Amino acid sequence: MASSKSRSGARESAKAPAPPHQGVERAIDGSAQGDDVRYDRTLRPQRFDDYVGQSKHKENLRVFVQAARQRGEPLDHLLLCGPPGLGKTTLAQILAHEMGVDLCMTNGPVVEHKGALAGLLTKLQPRDILFIDEIHRLNPVVEESLYPAMEDFRIDVMTGEGAFASSLQIGISPFTLVGATTRTGLLTAPLYSRFGHVLRLDFYPPEDLALIVTRSARLLEVTISPDAADEIARRSRGTPRIANRLLRRVRDFAQVLGSGKIDVAIVRDACQRLEVDAAGFDQMDRRLLQVIIEDYEGGPVGVETLAAALGEPRDTIEDVYEPYLLQQGYLGRTPRGRVATKKAFAHLGIALSGERAEGGPQKKLF
Ligand SMILES: Nc1ncnc2c1ncn2[C@@H]1O[C@H](COP(=O)(O)OP(=O)(O)O)[C@@H](O)[C@H]1O
Ligand SMILES: [Mg+2]
Repeated sequence: MASSKSRSGARESAKAPAPPHQGVERAIDGSAQGDDVRYDRTLRPQRFDDYVGQSKHKENLRVFVQAARQRGEPLDHLLLCGPPGLGKTTLAQILAHEMGVDLCMTNGPVVEHKGALAGLLTKLQPRDILFIDEIHRLNPVVEESLYPAMEDFRIDVMTGEGAFASSLQIGISPFTLVGATTRTGLLTAPLYSRFGHVLRLDFYPPEDLALIVTRSARLLEVTISPDAADEIARRSRGTPRIANRLLRRVRDFAQVLGSGKIDVAIVRDACQRLEVDAAGFDQMDRRLLQVIIEDYEGGPVGVETLAAALGEPRDTIEDVYEPYLLQQGYLGRTPRGRVATKKAFAHLGIALSGERAEGGPQKKLF
């Protein structure tokens, strides 16, 4: 049996860069912003048992953890893919806890040169986990120096200069690299192929989100009715981070304008004030669909054009806004660009011809 010595805990190796949205804080954006980081400490599950949903992945990971512990070995390198807020960082922390090892956390763009990576790798103890968020944004030179570390647990260090330069190989502890990315397509083939497991996290069904909301309400010590938890879940774009954030906002309204308890009426009222509609879309989602429908007759529209029209970086459109709209069938992708689907026209209450239906929106958005 592996030693069950518990050296659990996270070391932050460097400050994570600012989230991509510096402007108005979006109620429904899955990336961490505002006071999310503070609440992450309270709400983030520490064990598999508290990690809701993603059951196929969770059960597989439980087996891998048990097998690795029995053999006293590190886990295989693992790549976690999926849009922001679905639980990638949480899973990395759970894996460290369940393995009883330390977690060293960093972020692709923060590891600026080979020396910085070597500094992290040489500090790892056997079986520790190195978590690299946004791993698709690693500098190529740093990325290359990760290959021998992943494969043979060694790093190549250059010593001397000019004619006296030589390469020195330094052994490091057998460790696990857990990489997280919102954009699997941007990973290079050599890096991708060095991961033993690749896990794609899916958007969560409302039932799972309702469980997350209920658990979080308990931790925040606020009373919520089951149907109010369902209502928040339905408006959270399949994303736990959004569900937790919406719960905290609704709690504010319940405290100041209501009795402190959260019921459906308070959820609906709060969402109306926050301009989060019944599908969980905010102004930005609606604008995105509206631009395609009203300015481009339903599309196709190139993503660059869309980014310019919305005044948002292309990456943000692709990483944050589009995935859920695509998954839910409001948006389609064609070789010539994005198209709005029938569902998008119906949601905005716009007749398919592109002309606004008589009498304004046919569907109640809130
Ligand atoms: N499966 C889950 N069960 C319960 N809470 C979750 C789950 N996944 C994510 N969360 C919550 O959502 C928040 C965001 O998750 P995080 O791991 O930071 O997402 P990501 O790293 O994918 O952006 C966490 O703080 C946690 O509270
Ligand atoms: Mg994360």
